Amino acid sequence: MREIKPFKVAIVGTGYVGLGTAIMLAYLGHDVVGLDVDAAKVDMLRRGQLPIYEPGLAELMQQAGERLRWTTDYAEAIPEADAIFICVGTPPQADGRPDLKYVAEAARCIARNLNGKVQVVVNKSTVPVGTGDWVARLIEDNALEYHANRYFVVSNPEFLREGTAVHDSLYPDRIVVGGEHEEGVKRLVELYAPLLEQSFEAPEFAPRPQAYTRPALVTTSLGSAEMIKYAANAFLALKISFANEVANLCEHVDADIEEVVRGIGCDARIGPRFLAAGAGWGGSCFGKDTAALISTGADYGYDMPILQAAVTVNTRQRHVAITKLQRHLRRLKGKRVAVLGMAFKPGTDDLRDAPAYDCIARLVDLGATVVAHDPIAMDRARREWANLEYEEAPTAQAALKGADAVLVMTEWQEYKDLDWSAACRLMRNRLVIDLRGVVTSAPAATVVERVGRPSLGAPQ
Ligand code: UGA
Repeated sequence: MREIKPFKVAIVGTGYVGLGTAIMLAYLGHDVVGLDVDAAKVDMLRRGQLPIYEPGLAELMQQAGERLRWTTDYAEAIPEADAIFICVGTPPQADGRPDLKYVAEAARCIARNLNGKVQVVVNKSTVPVGTGDWVARLIEDNALEYHANRYFVVSNPEFLREGTAVHDSLYPDRIVVGGEHEEGVKRLVELYAPLLEQSFEAPEFAPRPQAYTRPALVTTSLGSAEMIKYAANAFLALKISFANEVANLCEHVDADIEEVVRGIGCDARIGPRFLAAGAGWGGSCFGKDTAALISTGADYGYDMPILQAAVTVNTRQRHVAITKLQRHLRRLKGKRVAVLGMAFKPGTDDLRDAPAYDCIARLVDLGATVVAHDPIAMDRARREWANLEYEEAPTAQAALKGADAVLVMTEWQEYKDLDWSAACRLMRNRLVIDLRGVVTSAPAATVVERVGRPSLGAPQ
């Protein structure tokens, strides 16, 4: 294995992206200090605990060992760092534009602690095109002692998915580095050398996939790198909305979306991934990034019609489960509805923009009693969804007991492995609305409704 050139790295912001990046870079052999203004979070990290659930991340953190430190103090993290990553949140505002106040605050604090040696400031937060230049100006305005060209602002967007963050950060499809200064881009390429050359020892719990060789390196201008991030997420969201639109039509014409996707997905120009129809996309990224791109378009007088349509289809898709329920049960008032899965996707306890939220809220509005279960996210839901009136069930079976219907909102393995025949026998009325393709055959006397596919079991 090639010896790596260790960098001193500071990571500002320890959310999903910051944590993942800090731990991955330390695992690769760099000296990393993760900074967060939230002292409670830093305390937790210092004790070796993670504030989020992400498979494999705790193990990777353990292996990174002493190379990883945590602080709340910019004066401790910044002066020594060769590369400083901005990984703070950019939450959406009411009009869809991302709020850049945390980026601005990070840039100012970084500026005040730069030490005049050549340092690279790397923007990893998802920020609108043009933000890199704005960050550079903020730093210039706030640096105590400004040394022209002593630091370079580079954009290095992150493409990891929650639930598979460890795998995605060790085995990315591509590494995108955008910047106007050759030196800044070069520095980042050196930092990522172990990933680019695959010269690190793969951890046991995240082995290198067989067909994987190495990521593509895409070096671009600052603006293009910023745009790549938005365009990639927007395109993925578009793909899912397209699949949902075709699925909804399949239901009218007796076609099966799974067969259709299998057929179109073999065309290498289309590809089979991100075409799973169901509850629509959720999570903290697609909704925020499509809205942000649409508002950037609006700033320039361009209305982004394709993206607007993708968002419209997704909003409609959130009602599909309720419509199917009403078709069978008519009035939902007084009905007991089990909801399996609250997280926006399996492998995470993240509830942000989860389709399950909209379903539960609508069911409660319509007077139904909701009994919800999730293998991981229930604790979090108790805090974050405190405004929703639903009951919790300790197990999937308990949720189904006495229910008039069950909605499957997240494709957890646990639900795929469930003994559906036994579980459905506990129901008062055996109706399954499976939005995530987890039920493969209908248990006796049970109707299984699916999205874009013929229903299974006897009609009621
Ligand atoms: C997404 C992108 O996939 C990442 O590449 C990107 O880095 C990340 O956003 C980000 O910007 O930070 P993530 O939101 O973690 O990642 O989750 P995805 O796996 O992309 O799923 C998003 C949503 O789409 C989920 O609600 C999922 O259930 C839904 N989905 C996904 C479908 O409905 N159908 C599919 O075929 C695929």
